[in-house]
Amino acid sequence: MQDVTKTLTTRASRRGVLKGSAALGLGTLAASSLGSRFAAAQDEPGSLEVFSWWTSPGEAPALQALFDAYLAKYPGTEIINAAVAGGAGVNAVAVLQTRLQGNQPPDSWQTHVGHELVDQYVVPGYCEPITDIYESEKWADVIPAGLVEQATWESNQYSIPVGVHRGNGFWFNKQVMKDNGIEVGDTMTVDEFFAAADILQKAGIPALALATKDTFAAAQTFENTLLGAVGPDTYRALFKGEAPWDSPEVRAAAETYAKMLDYVNPDHSALTWDGATALIIEGKAGFNSMGDWAYGEFVSKNAVDNVGWVSHPGTNGSFVLVVDSFTLPKGAPNAENAKRWLRVVGSKEAQEAFNPLKGSIPPRTDVNREIFSPYHQWSMDSFAKDALVPSCAHSQASSPAFKQAFYDASLAFVTDKDVDTYIAMLSDAQAMDAETTS
Ligand code: GAL
Repeated sequence: MQDVTKTLTTRASRRGVLKGSAALGLGTLAASSLGSRFAAAQDEPGSLEVFSWWTSPGEAPALQALFDAYLAKYPGTEIINAAVAGGAGVNAVAVLQTRLQGNQPPDSWQTHVGHELVDQYVVPGYCEPITDIYESEKWADVIPAGLVEQATWESNQYSIPVGVHRGNGFWFNKQVMKDNGIEVGDTMTVDEFFAAADILQKAGIPALALATKDTFAAAQTFENTLLGAVGPDTYRALFKGEAPWDSPEVRAAAETYAKMLDYVNPDHSALTWDGATALIIEGKAGFNSMGDWAYGEFVSKNAVDNVGWVSHPGTNGSFVLVVDSFTLPKGAPNAENAKRWLRVVGSKEAQEAFNPLKGSIPPRTDVNREIFSPYHQWSMDSFAKDALVPSCAHSQASSPAFKQAFYDASLAFVTDKDVDTYIAMLSDAQAMDAETTS
């Protein structure tokens, strides 16, 4: 595991490092001419290791925008990009866990607020509180209370949100729809999807682009389908363990999902999530159910003009929250730089640079809305008025153990489409979760 991190660890922004070395040289000279070696040591930009899973063509430039915002303030810092590939952190989370257990934390890591932050990192003692930074930066004045709350454990804040993704996007290629005489309105029902899917199938086009090489995509497509079938209240209750999985409405959701799976691309097990996004860009599939990091892919490939979106069928009026944030580790090797990093990540400038590229909307509400794309503005409106529900596929809604069971059951279902087994696996996972947390 450690070797994987090492291989993938790259030095960010050579330009920044070089520019920085020059700046460091000047700084050192100036300091010694003042005869103060101590001052020079304090100015030392040093290094900053940032751990994430942002390696896709859309994610990497957005991460670089954060690095650039940091380097603009603290030139000369050697930024070590310790990203580990794999959508939703399917590989990164395990690598990070090994490092944390071995007492080798990076200076900051990416995590989702909610259960992932709290269960996986705060409660086991891997994070320092950053409540003082929240206070000095006055973040609570500009970040909605609901988001701050999800970064909070026992009255302290432990991470700073950088982007709010909407998980229930349903993306399509406008030309493909036009060529096949399919009109997509502002919303889509499940029946409308199946009507479009039949047309596409007759034209030899898979109606649903799926990528199951990253294990999260099957779980995410199901959680979106589930939300459409049961609505936001029952959806929340299910993941909180307050509603049963073996109910007729969950069963109906699984049946709908099974039917949707009849329309997927045959090579789904060979594709990572951005591969499915590419099928939409290239006009080789109808729709892709994916969080709006997909929009980041469209941006990076200059494809936004030919891509349309609606909410995943039946989920209009709901916003599936996938909130990215950064932490302050206990024992961060460069703790001062780690704190600087968090202040940058939480700043208006950095959030305005990062989110247009990433597809997410800024957690800060004082950003300039005009610099954002029509998609972003649509998502901002949805965030303001729709029912906000957490994503299980992205670790916010449930314990890590339940999430893993949700992944395993959903992946098995893509192959066997066995509704009884699916429901039984989810019910068992819920029962085990109740036992562990009671
Ligand atoms: C999510 C994460 C997003 C995006 C996506 C695909 O879990 O919140 O920022 O990276 O995975 O990797």
